[in-house]
Amino acid sequence: MTGIPENTEQEQMQNAAAHQEELIANMIHDLKDGLSHGILVANLTGLLAVRLGLEERDVYSLKLAGFLHDVGKLKLSQYLYGRNTEALSIEQVKYMRMHAKISHDYLRQFDFEDDVLETVLRHHECYDGSGYPDNLSGNDIPYGARILKVADEFAALISERPYRRAFDIDTAVDIMIEQIKNMDMRVFLEFQRMIHEPETLKLIEESKIQLDESDIRAILGI
Ligand SMILES: [Fe+2]
Ligand SMILES: [Fe+2]
Repeated sequence: MTGIPENTEQEQMQNAAAHQEELIANMIHDLKDGLSHGILVANLTGLLAVRLGLEERDVYSLKLAGFLHDVGKLKLSQYLYGRNTEALSIEQVKYMRMHAKISHDYLRQFDFEDDVLETVLRHHECYDGSGYPDNLSGNDIPYGARILKVADEFAALISERPYRRAFDIDTAVDIMIEQIKNMDMRVFLEFQRMIHEPETLKLIEESKIQLDESDIRAILGI
Protein backbone atom coordinates (compact mmCIF):
# COMPACT_ATOMS: atom_id res chain seq x y z
CA MET A 1 0.00 0.00 0.00
CA THR A 2 1.49 3.33 -1.00
CA GLY A 3 -1.09 5.51 0.67
CA ILE A 4 -1.52 7.47 -2.57
CA PRO A 5 -5.10 6.39 -3.19
CA GLU A 6 -6.12 7.56 0.31
CA ASN A 7 -4.45 10.93 -0.19
CA THR A 8 -6.14 11.31 -3.52
CA GLU A 9 -9.43 10.45 -1.95
CA GLN A 10 -8.80 12.93 0.84
CA GLU A 11 -7.88 15.58 -1.70
CA GLN A 12 -11.01 14.86 -3.64
CA MET A 13 -13.08 15.24 -0.49
CA GLN A 14 -11.35 18.53 0.31
CA ASN A 15 -11.92 19.75 -3.23
CA ALA A 16 -15.57 18.74 -3.07
CA ALA A 17 -15.98 20.54 0.27
CA ALA A 18 -14.26 23.67 -1.11
CA HIS A 19 -16.44 23.53 -4.21
CA GLN A 20 -19.58 23.22 -2.09
CA GLU A 21 -18.51 26.10 0.14
CA GLU A 22 -17.87 28.26 -2.92
CA LEU A 23 -21.28 27.36 -4.30
CA ILE A 24 -22.97 28.20 -0.99
CA ALA A 25 -21.07 31.51 -0.82
CA ASN A 26 -22.22 32.27 -4.36
CA MET A 27 -25.81 31.43 -3.52
CA ILE A 28 -25.77 33.52 -0.34
CA HIS A 29 -24.40 36.45 -2.30
CA ASP A 30 -27.07 36.04 -4.98
CA LEU A 31 -29.87 35.66 -2.45
CA LYS A 32 -28.79 38.83 -0.63
CA ASP A 33 -28.55 40.74 -3.88
CA GLY A 34 -31.78 39.25 -5.15
CA LEU A 35 -33.80 40.24 -2.09
CA SER A 36 -32.48 43.82 -2.07
CA HIS A 37 -32.99 44.19 -5.81
CA GLY A 38 -36.48 42.67 -5.67
CA ILE A 39 -37.62 45.04 -2.92
CA LEU A 40 -36.30 48.12 -4.71
CA VAL A 41 -37.75 47.11 -8.09
CA ALA A 42 -41.12 46.21 -6.52
CA ASN A 43 -41.38 49.58 -4.79
CA LEU A 44 -40.27 51.68 -7.76
CA THR A 45 -42.46 49.72 -10.17
CA GLY A 46 -45.46 50.18 -7.86
CA LEU A 47 -44.93 53.92 -7.54
CA LEU A 48 -44.44 54.35 -11.28
CA ALA A 49 -47.55 52.28 -12.02
CA VAL A 50 -49.65 54.44 -9.67
CA ARG A 51 -48.40 57.59 -11.38
CA LEU A 52 -49.23 56.14 -14.77
CA GLY A 53 -52.80 55.65 -13.56
CA LEU A 54 -52.96 51.86 -13.27
CA GLU A 55 -55.70 50.36 -11.16
CA GLU A 56 -54.94 49.12 -7.68
CA ARG A 57 -55.13 45.46 -8.64
CA ASP A 58 -52.69 45.92 -11.53
CA VAL A 59 -50.34 47.89 -9.32
CA TYR A 60 -50.34 45.01 -6.86
CA SER A 61 -49.61 42.45 -9.62
CA LEU A 62 -46.77 44.58 -10.89
CA LYS A 63 -45.24 44.94 -7.44
CA LEU A 64 -45.37 41.20 -7.06
CA ALA A 65 -43.72 40.71 -10.45
CA GLY A 66 -41.15 43.33 -9.44
CA PHE A 67 -40.23 41.39 -6.34
CA LEU A 68 -40.02 38.04 -8.11
CA HIS A 69 -38.80 38.87 -11.61
CA ASP A 70 -35.20 37.68 -11.16
CA VAL A 71 -35.89 34.57 -9.10
CA GLY A 72 -34.54 32.50 -12.00
CA LYS A 73 -31.08 33.99 -11.46
CA LEU A 74 -30.82 32.11 -8.18
CA LYS A 75 -31.03 28.87 -10.09
CA LEU A 76 -28.12 30.01 -12.24
CA SER A 77 -25.71 30.71 -9.35
CA GLN A 78 -23.70 27.61 -10.06
CA TYR A 79 -23.08 28.56 -13.69
CA LEU A 80 -21.98 32.10 -13.03
CA TYR A 81 -18.60 31.84 -11.33
CA GLY A 82 -16.01 34.53 -11.86
CA ARG A 83 -18.38 37.44 -12.13
CA ASN A 84 -15.90 39.91 -10.65
CA THR A 85 -14.93 41.13 -14.06
CA GLU A 86 -16.56 43.74 -16.18
CA ALA A 87 -17.63 41.38 -18.93
CA LEU A 88 -19.35 38.05 -18.55
CA SER A 89 -18.05 35.23 -20.73
CA ILE A 90 -20.12 34.27 -23.77
CA GLU A 91 -21.21 31.15 -21.93
CA GLN A 92 -22.29 33.17 -18.87
CA VAL A 93 -24.23 35.64 -21.02
CA LYS A 94 -26.03 32.70 -22.61
CA TYR A 95 -27.09 31.42 -19.19
CA MET A 96 -27.89 34.91 -17.94
CA ARG A 97 -30.26 35.50 -20.82
CA MET A 98 -32.21 32.41 -19.78
CA HIS A 99 -33.18 33.84 -16.40
CA ALA A 100 -36.42 35.57 -17.43
CA LYS A 101 -37.75 32.31 -18.84
CA ILE A 102 -36.47 30.32 -15.85
CA SER A 103 -38.15 32.77 -13.45
CA HIS A 104 -41.39 32.47 -15.41
CA ASP A 105 -41.30 28.66 -15.57
CA TYR A 106 -40.49 28.38 -11.88
CA LEU A 107 -43.31 30.73 -10.79
CA ARG A 108 -45.78 29.02 -13.12
CA GLN A 109 -45.75 26.04 -10.79
CA PHE A 110 -47.52 28.18 -8.20
CA ASP A 111 -50.78 30.06 -8.27
CA PHE A 112 -49.58 33.32 -9.80
CA GLU A 113 -51.91 35.20 -12.12
CA ASP A 114 -51.10 35.18 -15.83
CA ASP A 115 -50.29 38.90 -15.87
CA VAL A 116 -47.64 38.42 -13.16
CA LEU A 117 -46.09 35.52 -15.11
CA GLU A 118 -46.20 37.44 -18.38
CA THR A 119 -44.54 40.51 -16.83
CA VAL A 120 -41.77 38.33 -15.40
CA LEU A 121 -41.21 36.58 -18.74
CA ARG A 122 -41.03 39.88 -20.64
CA HIS A 123 -39.00 42.05 -18.30
CA HIS A 124 -35.92 42.01 -20.55
CA GLU A 125 -37.70 42.62 -23.82
CA CYS A 126 -36.63 45.95 -25.32
CA TYR A 127 -38.89 48.48 -27.00
CA ASP A 128 -36.78 48.37 -30.18
CA GLY A 129 -36.96 44.56 -30.36
CA SER A 130 -33.39 43.89 -29.22
CA GLY A 131 -34.31 42.18 -25.94
CA TYR A 132 -34.94 38.62 -24.85
CA PRO A 133 -36.26 35.94 -24.74
CA ASP A 134 -38.31 36.61 -27.92
CA ASN A 135 -37.25 39.98 -29.38
CA LEU A 136 -40.72 41.43 -28.87
CA SER A 137 -40.97 45.13 -29.66
CA GLY A 138 -43.15 48.17 -28.95
CA ASN A 139 -46.67 47.52 -27.77
CA ASP A 140 -46.26 43.76 -28.26
CA ILE A 141 -44.44 43.89 -24.93
CA PRO A 142 -47.05 43.90 -22.13
CA TYR A 143 -47.43 47.35 -20.59
CA GLY A 144 -46.53 46.06 -17.12
CA ALA A 145 -43.24 44.64 -18.40
CA ARG A 146 -42.40 48.00 -20.00
CA ILE A 147 -42.98 49.70 -16.64
CA LEU A 148 -40.98 47.12 -14.73
CA LYS A 149 -38.09 47.41 -17.19
CA VAL A 150 -37.60 51.10 -16.44
CA ALA A 151 -37.56 50.49 -12.67
CA ASP A 152 -35.31 47.46 -13.12
CA GLU A 153 -32.70 49.28 -15.21
CA PHE A 154 -32.57 52.11 -12.71
CA ALA A 155 -32.37 49.80 -9.69
CA ALA A 156 -29.44 47.94 -11.25
CA LEU A 157 -27.58 51.16 -12.01
CA ILE A 158 -27.85 52.62 -8.49
CA SER A 159 -26.69 49.34 -6.93
CA GLU A 160 -23.11 48.29 -6.44
CA ARG A 161 -21.81 45.53 -8.68
CA PRO A 162 -18.73 43.35 -8.16
CA TYR A 163 -17.02 45.23 -10.99
CA ARG A 164 -18.18 48.82 -10.32
CA ARG A 165 -19.45 51.25 -7.70
CA ALA A 166 -23.11 52.25 -7.66
CA PHE A 167 -24.00 55.19 -9.90
CA ASP A 168 -25.67 58.25 -8.38
CA ILE A 169 -29.23 59.01 -9.45
CA ASP A 170 -28.36 61.65 -12.06
CA THR A 171 -25.71 59.50 -13.71
CA ALA A 172 -28.11 56.55 -13.72
CA VAL A 173 -30.77 58.65 -15.47
CA ASP A 174 -28.18 59.89 -18.02
CA ILE A 175 -27.17 56.31 -18.80
CA MET A 176 -30.82 55.37 -19.24
CA ILE A 177 -31.31 58.27 -21.66
CA GLU A 178 -28.44 56.87 -23.75
CA GLN A 179 -30.30 53.55 -23.83
CA ILE A 180 -33.74 55.04 -24.38
CA LYS A 181 -34.35 52.89 -27.48
CA ASN A 182 -34.81 49.96 -25.08
CA MET A 183 -37.65 51.60 -23.17
CA ASP A 184 -41.15 52.91 -23.65
CA MET A 185 -40.58 56.66 -23.89
CA ARG A 186 -43.87 57.58 -22.20
CA VAL A 187 -43.09 55.37 -19.23
CA PHE A 188 -39.53 56.70 -19.01
CA LEU A 189 -40.68 60.33 -19.07
CA GLU A 190 -42.99 59.73 -16.12
CA PHE A 191 -40.15 57.97 -14.34
CA GLN A 192 -37.87 60.94 -15.00
CA ARG A 193 -40.50 63.28 -13.53
CA MET A 194 -40.89 61.23 -10.36
CA ILE A 195 -37.29 60.30 -9.66
CA HIS A 196 -36.19 63.46 -7.83
CA GLU A 197 -39.38 63.91 -5.83
CA PRO A 198 -39.03 63.54 -2.05
CA GLU A 199 -41.53 60.65 -2.03
CA THR A 200 -39.36 58.68 -4.47
CA LEU A 201 -36.08 59.43 -2.70
CA LYS A 202 -37.66 58.33 0.58
CA LEU A 203 -38.90 55.12 -1.04
CA ILE A 204 -35.43 54.34 -2.41
CA GLU A 205 -33.92 54.85 1.06
CA GLU A 206 -36.58 52.70 2.70
CA SER A 207 -36.02 49.92 0.16
CA LYS A 208 -32.44 49.40 1.35
CA ILE A 209 -32.31 46.38 3.58
CA GLN A 210 -29.39 45.19 5.64
CA LEU A 211 -28.90 41.45 5.51
CA ASP A 212 -25.65 39.89 6.55
CA GLU A 213 -24.38 36.45 5.75
CA SER A 214 -25.46 34.97 9.09
CA ASP A 215 -29.06 36.11 8.47
CA ILE A 216 -29.07 34.31 5.15
CA ARG A 217 -27.44 31.19 6.60
CA ALA A 218 -30.15 31.21 9.29
CA ILE A 219 -32.87 31.49 6.63
CA LEU A 220 -31.32 28.62 4.66
CA GLY A 221 -30.62 26.56 7.77
CA ILE A 222 -26.92 26.09 6.94
FE1 LIG B 1 -33.76 40.29 -14.93
FE1 LIG C 1 -33.78 42.72 -12.26
